[in-house]
Amino acid sequence: MKVRKWWKRMLVLDLLLAGLLFLHTYQEQEESLQASAGYDQVNREQTEAGTPAGKSRSGGKMVALTFDDGPDPRYTEKLLDGLKERGVKATFFVTGANASKYPEIIKRIQEEGHLIGNHTYHHIQLTAANGEQFRNEIISTNEVIRGITGEDTEYIRPPYGSWNKKYEEELNMFPVLWSIDPRDWCSDDADCIVRNTVSKVKEGDIILMHDQYQSSVTAALEIVDRLQKEGYIFVTVEELLLD
Ligand code: NI
Repeated sequence: MKVRKWWKRMLVLDLLLAGLLFLHTYQEQEESLQASAGYDQVNREQTEAGTPAGKSRSGGKMVALTFDDGPDPRYTEKLLDGLKERGVKATFFVTGANASKYPEIIKRIQEEGHLIGNHTYHHIQLTAANGEQFRNEIISTNEVIRGITGEDTEYIRPPYGSWNKKYEEELNMFPVLWSIDPRDWCSDDADCIVRNTVSKVKEGDIILMHDQYQSSVTAALEIVDRLQKEGYIFVTVEELLLD
């Protein structure tokens, strides 16, 4: 009888320990999920560093449109036309590969007062690369951009939001994530992209879009029209984060 009780007690203890271990692992997973989905948080913190968050000097509610993966010979200039008509400044996170193919579009982006940022050379997931690849992807893209614009860029949007803080100081790059992702790349329904954005937007938001689709261009300009009516001012991420 005594032996049996002892086993029972061990079994209860084991189950208790397993339970605690499970809870602990579960919490850790939750935390890392929150961290990886925490673009919003990162951007909030970045925004809060400026005072007051998301307010322009003129008191308007600031918001930033960002366009990744370009420039694109079919759509980027249509987008630039529309932004110009509306007096809007945006941020273009370009890949080194596309920038070197379409330098004249990069030049136009710069001349019209938009901000140009780095989106790696080959659109790679940086955290999957080794240190040398990581540096090369960023440095080579910076060189292409500087070769065209004569200016350095300090802003990077890491593809997939995957970034390693370790290289920030060494490369003197400031990662810019996003707080609104209308997933424009997976829908050609411009109205749906507009609704997804306009229903969520708050001052200080950074909106992630891609200038590789007609629907994204249509949606971006419609978003501008609607939000300008609500008193929003479109600025570059630099103005938004450092104002
Ligand atoms: Ni991208």
